[in-house]
Amino acid sequence: MSGKILVTGGAGYIGSHTCILLIEAGYEVIVFDNFSNSSIESIKRVEKIVGSSIVVIEGDIRNRDDLRGVFENHKIDAVIHFAGLKAVGESVEQPLRYYDNNISGTVALCEVMSEYSCKSIVFSSSATVYGDPHTTPIKEDFSVSATNPYGRSKLFIEEILRDLYVSDNSWKVVLLRYFNPVGAYKSGDIGEDPKDIPNNLMPFIAQTAVGKREFLNVFGDDYNTHDGTGVRDYIHVMDLADGHVKAINKIKSFNDVMTINLGAGKGYSVLDVLKAYEMASGKEIPYKIAPRRDGDIASCYADPSYAREILGWEAKRDINQMCIDSWRWQSKNPDGYKS
Ligand code: NAD
Ligand code: UD1
Repeated sequence: MSGKILVTGGAGYIGSHTCILLIEAGYEVIVFDNFSNSSIESIKRVEKIVGSSIVVIEGDIRNRDDLRGVFENHKIDAVIHFAGLKAVGESVEQPLRYYDNNISGTVALCEVMSEYSCKSIVFSSSATVYGDPHTTPIKEDFSVSATNPYGRSKLFIEEILRDLYVSDNSWKVVLLRYFNPVGAYKSGDIGEDPKDIPNNLMPFIAQTAVGKREFLNVFGDDYNTHDGTGVRDYIHVMDLADGHVKAINKIKSFNDVMTINLGAGKGYSVLDVLKAYEMASGKEIPYKIAPRRDGDIASCYADPSYAREILGWEAKRDINQMCIDSWRWQSKNPDGYKS
């Protein structure tokens, strides 16, 4: 495969992993990031892994001139749009910052793409758009809703991209709804590097296993699930990255808006993940049962059959592999990229 792919947010967790597979698949990658939640170190490590250098442009997707500079200098074939803020709690406290960054940023990006007749975009949406699903597994045609500004920003952006397609059907739009991305590249040189106390389960467990946190709070043990703790669909970040490469391969041959779940299709509880992580790390991970977290649902996992049908994609790595790879990254880099 060949072509130039602009990866917004390419220095971040999912973006950096995706760059590896894009380059291995033969694409040229241009990373565009303002480093608000990442550092150049991730890209330096990706360069080492792939054995070639990557063009990195520091800029903000809200700044049209930053973006124009990229399109002036590079003939971009498609954009994978990861750039965005993603902390649910923070979005409740700072809604305008989230709407500005995520929504205004996407509008600016699409305007500049349009100016340069680049009309292929793969967007990072989230399973959060399903709200509290009436049943599981979740299919793409289930109803959508949001309970916080982060989730609403994803819903609005999906609608904006659909409207764009209606206005001009030479656009090609892929909306990828990720379930719970975890794990790391197999060498343990890149991984998830939360800036503050992790909100998400796997990085919190990883930091507890490495001794940075005293214990894990298990948010609720009275859900209607097999052991009472919340059930989610964890997907290895390299499987997710592979889904993006397959979406980019596919985007050339269609004109439409495709909405696709990227999940493994299996549900694991908080205690299942904890046990798998103990096995992977050989550490005992202390935990306490705590009250339910506001906004959490009992169970959420994907029906990934549409991704298989349309992209020929399916998740290959199981929960044990996710924990093994997360632990390799965490133990090699106890302080993330600062290590
Ligand atoms: P991340 O924070 O690691 O990566 C996002 C990257 O975007 C960062 O490098 C950040 O510096 C950059 N960025 C943010 N705002 C920017 C702006 N205005 N201009 C330029 N760069 C900007 O997050 P991630 O986990 O890699 O997530 C990538 C995308 O996937 C996000 O849109 C996120 O909402 C979405 N998503 C993530 C998850 C998850 O659990 N990680 C789940 C569903 C969806
Ligand atoms: C969360 C966000 C979701 C976002 C996703 C990816 C909320 C309510 N939802 O999803 O919008 O798209 O992250 O960024 O924040 N848990 C604990 N202890 C912890 C952390 C988590 O028990 O310290 C439990 C949760 O209650 C849940 C499971 O672990 O049952 C997974 O939580 P998490 O990793 O935060 O992901 P989601 O809640 O699925």
